[in-house]
Amino acid sequence: MSDPSPSAPTREGARLIDGTALAKRIRAEVAADVAALRLRGVTPGLAVVLVGDDPASGVYVGAKERASREAGMAGDTIRLPANASQSELLALVERLNRDERVHGILVQMPLPAQIDPDTVIRHIRPDKDVDGFHPVNVGKLLIGHTDGFVPCTPAGVQRMLVEHGVATRGAECVVIGRSTIVGKPMAALLMQAGAGADATVTICHSRTRDLASHTRRADILIVAAGRPRMVTADMVKPGAVVIDVGMNRIADATTASGTRLVGDVDFEGVRLVASLITPVPGGVGPMTIAMLLHNTVRAARRTLDA
Ligand code: GUN
Repeated sequence: MSDPSPSAPTREGARLIDGTALAKRIRAEVAADVAALRLRGVTPGLAVVLVGDDPASGVYVGAKERASREAGMAGDTIRLPANASQSELLALVERLNRDERVHGILVQMPLPAQIDPDTVIRHIRPDKDVDGFHPVNVGKLLIGHTDGFVPCTPAGVQRMLVEHGVATRGAECVVIGRSTIVGKPMAALLMQAGAGADATVTICHSRTRDLASHTRRADILIVAAGRPRMVTADMVKPGAVVIDVGMNRIADATTASGTRLVGDVDFEGVRLVASLITPVPGGVGPMTIAMLLHNTVRAARRTLDA
């Protein structure tokens, strides 16, 4: 009898990708880089801007500030009221653009309705755009120039694949979701030439016909659709690697809060079919912040090399 394929699921189901552990390791690497930069007289600085009082955004922003401080950076959160005007926010961005102590600028999305997010993103200096949302950085990613910033969530997913030895070269990779934050940059990353990429990429979205016919072909399935547990076991090829970017809060009467966090993948069903899978929470989520810190250190290091 031949050896089972290394990607075959065990009888207990898929192996888990522990995003919390990997993010911790990356954050320790970042902290060492920060310490080295501080010895050279540069303290990496991250400015996070939060407009309004959306509770979820408040939690994310707090986590970003805490993580940057833990890594030894100068992490600052600047809060504007929910009724702040677009020109107030643009004036703040201009000030941060000019501030030499600030190497990375992140304006938390979503923004209140009176502010156009694209206008704000275009005002951030591309070399401080650690979110990788500015058109210059989006363009560099698509072209394959590596001197820009890659959005943190797709960068984190790619790092997870590399760290787990997932073969991407020539692999059928299906991405569900076409957002600017995840789906589009994810596809752009995986289609590039090089390590952790070289994949054959399909993007599916809300208008895709017969979604399952695409997902069943996927060696690597990345789901960023924002729909709780939409990917079920019958949609997944046996042995596939499944990455769940979803974070949905659903009602659950059995918990103290009455809610529960679930991904876009039906974890309990899909883990029996997949070879490797990310849990929610504890999968992709922690990687996003780790890659944000990584981008900020890069931005700071460049001011020395410039
Ligand atoms: N809102 C949800 N995810 C993100 C992100 O990665 N960056 C910013 N700026 N806002 C977000």
